[in-house]
Amino acid sequence: MQKELEKVKKDFQTQIKKVTDLLSLENLEQQFFSRKNGKFTEIMKSLKDLKEDTRKEFGRLANDIKNELELLLEQKRQDFQSQMLGKIAQTESIDVTVPKLPGEERGHLHPNTLLQYKLEDLFTSMGFLVWDGPELESDYYNFTALNIPPHHPARDMQDTFYIKGHLDWVMRTQTSSFQVRALQKFGVPLRLIVPGRVFRNESTDPRHEHTFYQLEGIVVGKNITFGDMKGTLETVAKHLYGEQTQMRLRPKFYPFVEPGVNGEITCSLCSGKGCRVCKYTGWLEIFGAGMVHPNVLKEGGVDSTEYQGFAFGFGMSRLVMLKYGIEDVRHLQSGDLRFLQQF
Ligand code: DAH
Repeated sequence: MQKELEKVKKDFQTQIKKVTDLLSLENLEQQFFSRKNGKFTEIMKSLKDLKEDTRKEFGRLANDIKNELELLLEQKRQDFQSQMLGKIAQTESIDVTVPKLPGEERGHLHPNTLLQYKLEDLFTSMGFLVWDGPELESDYYNFTALNIPPHHPARDMQDTFYIKGHLDWVMRTQTSSFQVRALQKFGVPLRLIVPGRVFRNESTDPRHEHTFYQLEGIVVGKNITFGDMKGTLETVAKHLYGEQTQMRLRPKFYPFVEPGVNGEITCSLCSGKGCRVCKYTGWLEIFGAGMVHPNVLKEGGVDSTEYQGFAFGFGMSRLVMLKYGIEDVRHLQSGDLRFLQQF
């Protein structure tokens, strides 16, 4: 056992010397510490088969080595980050103390940011953490960890942009990619939202964009019910579109929840009477949600016989369009001042 530990340590130390950027550093971390099949994790797992006294001894040794290697990882990460910052500082300089000239226009927040802040305020008032996830994500967190294995047809619905030479990295297609990261990072009980940008490889039209915003939420604890989910989401809908807003849930398949639903609200433009925007149905789909699938909890290291919870994902760009009556999603990313100055 000691030999094995020393060998993995050596192996790690040689490999980290060769790492040249943040991306390969993350890869190395996965290779050794991924919960599923990391080289180091595997040894940690095998500790449980040892006799008690040797287990204690090796457990301690393993922990010491783990701390040592994690320190190396952290140092390397900081090195890369400061290198990057250094480069930016060399090439750009902005004097933030220069006063605004009379008559000069001041900037203001983008409608997307306005709505995001409004939602963050609401969710923090309900005890949620607000967190940021990476936009460049591993295939594992974006798909596999969410109960979408490589052969699964659900992958076809979310084609994305892959990174040349790094096929196991993708531009995340959904903020759901943070669910398992969050469970691993914070454990349970958990109440957390992740607003952010997502990407899809698709042709654009007034309702579709290759880059848009979502807001993900996950709640896991003991005795969390479907009723809690419905109450939370109804609160959000009313907060955004007024007390008179009604919400309905209809069954829909998402691999990472069971049961899964899509959530619709009465159309805020015609108050449910039916108009072009709601295709004369009176209802508009604004989120997907459901009870977190036991396989997802398992990936997050959570015992699904003891804990359960719900997750939801709002199409934030959609919410912005409804709130401000924007008819084409592409305006949001256009940077066109004639559009932006209206907010
Ligand atoms: N990630 C899904 C999408 O992009 C939306 C979603 C559905 C998120 C159900 C969830 C959920 O958390 O439970 O289409």
